[in-house]
Amino acid sequence: MSAINTRRFLQLAGLTAAGLFLAACGKKEPAPAAPAAAPVASAPAPAPVKVYTVGTDAAYAPFESQNEKGEIVGFDIDVLKAVAANAGFEVKFVNTPWEGIFNALGQGDRDMVVSAVTITDERKQTMDFSDPYFDAAQLIAVKEGSKVAKFADLKKLKVGVQTGTTGDEAVTKLLGKTSTNIKRFESTPLALKELESGGVDAVVADNGVVVHYVANNPGGKFKTVSDAEFVPEQYGIALKKGNAELLALVNKGLAGIKADGTYTKIYTQYFGAPPAAPAAAPAPASAASK
Ligand code: ARG
Repeated sequence: MSAINTRRFLQLAGLTAAGLFLAACGKKEPAPAAPAAAPVASAPAPAPVKVYTVGTDAAYAPFESQNEKGEIVGFDIDVLKAVAANAGFEVKFVNTPWEGIFNALGQGDRDMVVSAVTITDERKQTMDFSDPYFDAAQLIAVKEGSKVAKFADLKKLKVGVQTGTTGDEAVTKLLGKTSTNIKRFESTPLALKELESGGVDAVVADNGVVVHYVANNPGGKFKTVSDAEFVPEQYGIALKKGNAELLALVNKGLAGIKADGTYTKIYTQYFGAPPAAPAAAPAPASAASK
């Protein structure tokens, strides 16, 4: 133990002893009007563990959904719980519709949003993001007999998306802002149900969710179509802009669970295999610039 650590240890030990002493006194005497705080006022009591309110649109299995008991569960939930445990805070999840989720964050009704949120430049203008914690891409879902083989094939078709998602953005770009062939839904499962009933010809959404839905709804007779055209996406935990202290804490926890194997454990539990090795860091200087 270094000299500084020893001193710190003795300070803490002294505090504890003082605390015990005061607690013992408190038992024998009626509570004084001004409780025992005064003598220890110079030594701050350990701060109570902070509980942060987290918004999540829990209709996005396997990332976030509600189980039969109504509890919010999923990959994102387990990751953030582990981050919180690592960084020393607590989280309380609140089911929050996707369409109002970033407003709730901006207004301070939620301290964080974990909801398979893709980090985009546009969103970065109005919110802050943690370091990325998941790699994703868009994926097309169609019925088994469909002739769709690539994204561009959707151009003349009716396409379902969840409003305001990166899937919505991609389809809006392909079909045009004013296209009436884009059918926007409040949730991704609703869009996929519409595909099942034939109301739309395809759905574009995050790969993890589409794969999960197709696997769990064999009766829907879906198939998936990937396309290298879709830009790589990364999920981040969103925070209110400027909340630097909490952002640092979240990133610290994220780094911690990546370093100690917790992240890989959670990932493997949900996706059946450990995550692919992270893409090589961009080469410095000229090669990195586009
Ligand atoms: N990753 C996509 C996006 O950020 C979709 C996320 C939707 N998440 C949800 N829980 N509904 O736009």
